[in-house]
Amino acid sequence: KKRLTVTDFAKMKSNGEKISMLTAYDFAMAKMLDAAGVDMLLVGDSLAMVVQGHENTIPVTLDEMIYHGEMVARAAKRAFVVVDIPFPVNHHGIHEAVKAAGRIMKKTGCHAVKLEGGADQADVIRAMVNAGIPVIAHVGLRPQAVHAMGGYKVQRDRDELMADASAAQEAGAFCVLIECVPAEIATELSGKLRVPTIGIGAGAGCDGQVLVTNDMLGMTTGYVPSFVKAYANVAEQIASAVGQWCEEVKENTFPDEDHSF
Ligand code: KIV
Ligand code: NA
Repeated sequence: KKRLTVTDFAKMKSNGEKISMLTAYDFAMAKMLDAAGVDMLLVGDSLAMVVQGHENTIPVTLDEMIYHGEMVARAAKRAFVVVDIPFPVNHHGIHEAVKAAGRIMKKTGCHAVKLEGGADQADVIRAMVNAGIPVIAHVGLRPQAVHAMGGYKVQRDRDELMADASAAQEAGAFCVLIECVPAEIATELSGKLRVPTIGIGAGAGCDGQVLVTNDMLGMTTGYVPSFVKAYANVAEQIASAVGQWCEEVKENTFPDEDHSF
């Protein structure tokens, strides 16, 4: 299977073929998602919550993003790998931001970076793109700004969303991710942009969809947003398998002869 590229995603938009993206944080899961045919793997800073157990995405560091990015990029054969720029590295000035994005690409072998922001990040996006770093701009709900936004809320300011998405596109972003926006606005935005949009909690009118893998597989034991559909109940399967194993260990029925030398 050939590696997907930015050119493929542009073609998919013009052909009306939807783009699939899921988060991945480690080698084992990334390998399964890649083999299952996911187009893009996102090493999301959601790993702060999903993997590290933090309350929000603010604590994860650049070095930690690189550590997980390496594992995912090593596993992906066909999927296009994107790594999130963690808070607040893309606000350290253009020089530091490009340096960080370059370090992410160099050390992980990923194919693009994603940063939260639109119009306010246009200069940063342009500088990265000039350096040969493909960028996805993340607009709408920006989880890194949770304290400033007053919580995780649906973003309804059509003009601001349009301005952010267009600014990101004009700055050279090859894709715009739209989080928690009414379907009607996200659809309008997707129609107006040349570059593909990928939605999360943004309806069916986007050019692609992304979810947190642990959420859609039913592996998240805490809060799961209402826009997530559960395609499996992996947490239940783990509880049942591990429960049975513990019982068999206590009863000394595992290992039996078949599983001994
Ligand atoms: O960090 C992440 O997982 C993300 C997706 C939810 C879009 O940014
Ligand atoms: Na993110």
